[in-house]
Amino acid sequence: MPKYKIAWLPGDGVGNDVMEAARIVLDKMKFDAEYIHGDIGWEFWRAEANPLPDRTVKLLNECDCALFGAITSKPRDEAEQELAPELQGKGHIYSSPIVRLRQEFNLRTNLRPCKAYPGNPLNYKEDIDLIVFRENTEDLYSGVEFHPFPDEVRAVISKHNPKMKKFDKVDGKDIAVSLRINTREACRNIVTDAFEYAKSHGYKSVTIVEKPNVIRETSGLMVRTAREVAKNYPGIDMWETNIDAMCMWLIKNPMDYGVIATSNMFGDIVSDLCAQLVGGLGFAASGNIGDKLAVFEPTHGSAPKYAGKYKVNPMAMLLTTKMMFDWLGETDKGTALESAIAGVIKDGKVRTYDMGGSNTSLEVAQAVAARL
Ligand code: IPM
Ligand code: MG
Repeated sequence: MPKYKIAWLPGDGVGNDVMEAARIVLDKMKFDAEYIHGDIGWEFWRAEANPLPDRTVKLLNECDCALFGAITSKPRDEAEQELAPELQGKGHIYSSPIVRLRQEFNLRTNLRPCKAYPGNPLNYKEDIDLIVFRENTEDLYSGVEFHPFPDEVRAVISKHNPKMKKFDKVDGKDIAVSLRINTREACRNIVTDAFEYAKSHGYKSVTIVEKPNVIRETSGLMVRTAREVAKNYPGIDMWETNIDAMCMWLIKNPMDYGVIATSNMFGDIVSDLCAQLVGGLGFAASGNIGDKLAVFEPTHGSAPKYAGKYKVNPMAMLLTTKMMFDWLGETDKGTALESAIAGVIKDGKVRTYDMGGSNTSLEVAQAVAARL
């Protein structure tokens, strides 16, 4: 029996292209695993009104971890229009399957490393080595939202907070409310993960990115909790930076930063910025890490117009595969794969279009495999 069971979730658009690229490398490395296909994505939303069918949830419960390609997400009304005719008007509401996976399996930490590999013509600056720890299950992603805004909810909020008064005259249908919900436990977990990583990887500081001067309660809870956690790590400094300023500093002096810890929404935003500093989403790997399961996915979207054309950069997917090796404890494989990737980038001969080349996703993967 193979050593590992990996759920194989290509998802939508170019998901399949980059997963095929990953497979070239996995096979070259003779990774001892069984890959089991799982249905997920837009096709299943349209046909079954469920982009994450129960059978896929079951599969994930039986696997060591999952590799995931890409997902198409559309706003509520557009999604409804694309449902099979017999499913329309039945109250089905689209919700992103990756967000559901993160919440249902409590994949509480979203790890997003961004390194400027030498020789990458797309590096914004050299010597950038960042890793974002994004809380992955709550915050504005909690899904507790209202539109129209029910009178009962409004009455309760008004009773507890005078600031609601300002909206008294606005009709319920003209107000939308999304709750930002953050728990002390999730704050503690994400900050602890970040400090543990800093400790084991020799980083001198952890930057907490929030906005407590304005969002006093939720961002405030994160920062207050982080200060408590930081006391357990005397050798590591904790920097507190507001999200807006952080975006500016990351453009100005990205080399000054290392480990970044933040909540879900700010992490979503700042991790795209970090990705662009090191070549864009074609280089952005990520791992959704829980206690029992982890789902590894490149951060890029499904880029439908490139689907099946093997045009997109598979580096993000290959770096994601490296993260999977590390999480499984196969760190020798992880290190070998990363050096092969770095070698191909430095060599500069095999490149996809975004890097100024004309090679396919699969050719890039073959070039990486040739170094393994
Ligand atoms: C990401 C993506 C997702 C998110 C989308 C596809 C729901 O942007 O992984 O960063 O918002 O988390
Ligand atoms: Mg995002």
